[in-house]
Amino acid sequence: MSRTSSRKKDHVDLCVNEQVSFRGKTNGLEEWYFQHNALPELNVEDIDTSTDFLGKSLSFPLLISGMTGGYAEAERINGDLAEVAEDLRLAIGAGSMRQALENDTFHESYRIMRRNAPTIPILANIGAVEVAAMEDARPAQYLVELIEADALVVHTNPLQEFLQPEGEARFRGVLEGLAMLVRELSVPVILKEVGAGISREAAMRAHEVGVQWIDVAGAGGTSWAGVEMLRRGEGCEISQEFWDWGIPTAQALEELRINRPQDMRVIASGGISDGVMIAKCLALGAEIAGSARPLLTALMNDGPDALRGRICGWKRDLLGVMFLTGASDLGRLRRSPICKRNEC
Ligand SMILES: Cc1cc2nc3c(=O)[nH]c(=O)nc-3n(C[C@H](O)[C@H](O)[C@H](O)COP(=O)(O)O)c2cc1C
Repeated sequence: MSRTSSRKKDHVDLCVNEQVSFRGKTNGLEEWYFQHNALPELNVEDIDTSTDFLGKSLSFPLLISGMTGGYAEAERINGDLAEVAEDLRLAIGAGSMRQALENDTFHESYRIMRRNAPTIPILANIGAVEVAAMEDARPAQYLVELIEADALVVHTNPLQEFLQPEGEARFRGVLEGLAMLVRELSVPVILKEVGAGISREAAMRAHEVGVQWIDVAGAGGTSWAGVEMLRRGEGCEISQEFWDWGIPTAQALEELRINRPQDMRVIASGGISDGVMIAKCLALGAEIAGSARPLLTALMNDGPDALRGRICGWKRDLLGVMFLTGASDLGRLRRSPICKRNEC
């Protein structure tokens, strides 16, 4: 197995079998409360949780965030995730597709997503480090076509690259690379972190070069510093402070909530683990919410039915919040009064 393939396998194994959550930090959404509406004036069966994302209709605003691909077992994982996403009409991301640029041995581990999910939005994925080194958009366009993707996610992960044993912390040229992709690619570009958050300042710099979609992927869920520290093992002792490094999801959303450019669209992720959190993300300005490890662990530990069960619960949670705030659709939920503890 190549280094890239074996790294992708390590990541799934560690995320399923080890404690890799943030230790001293949450995603901050527990600080936010909706105002209870004692007179909702609507019937629960009349509530519409559907939304459009990248021109396609979803049953509710959930994205299975990009996780895997590029080694043998990933084909089954991506196949199962995609099948559930298609059945439940969600969006789904592929994990980093760097391996697919190295050779075609595991192309099926990505292609199976579009085969199992012909109608939903699927996001291709590549790292900022690769983008910084790209001379033109051809490799990225190739990845988009491999899975007939509706958008390309560029994951920016400086903390992870810095701590990764084989990491490449070379980010000079990323903005130029993003500008080139925005100009040349046939689909939109989404800039995403992997759990350390995107500040307003960083989002604005990406927007200045034409990136309209920001997935804040904030701190409080999976700690990618934690994952890489476990992979490093003993040897050079790195400060445990990095384990909890990053901008909590709710803070990143709050920074982009007001006065952001009109054409900037926000995806919320990082520690999303129920449908009440999804509702809060929408009220804080996100178009849709993403979740990675909580969905992967349901699938890997208990199978596709457990994954369906978890997602069904999240949809029910969202419905509950909409009913209890009197919001008959997501537009109204987004305008619902929400306030921070101590400020209500
Ligand atoms: C096993 C696993 C592999 C991941 N691989 C990728 C990846 O290849 N590309 C990417 O953009 N994000 C990757 N992520 C990061 C997630 O998309 C997400 O941003 C991060 O885990 C925070 O979300 P969570 O708290 O819901 O897990 C991966 C996550 C997991 C759990």
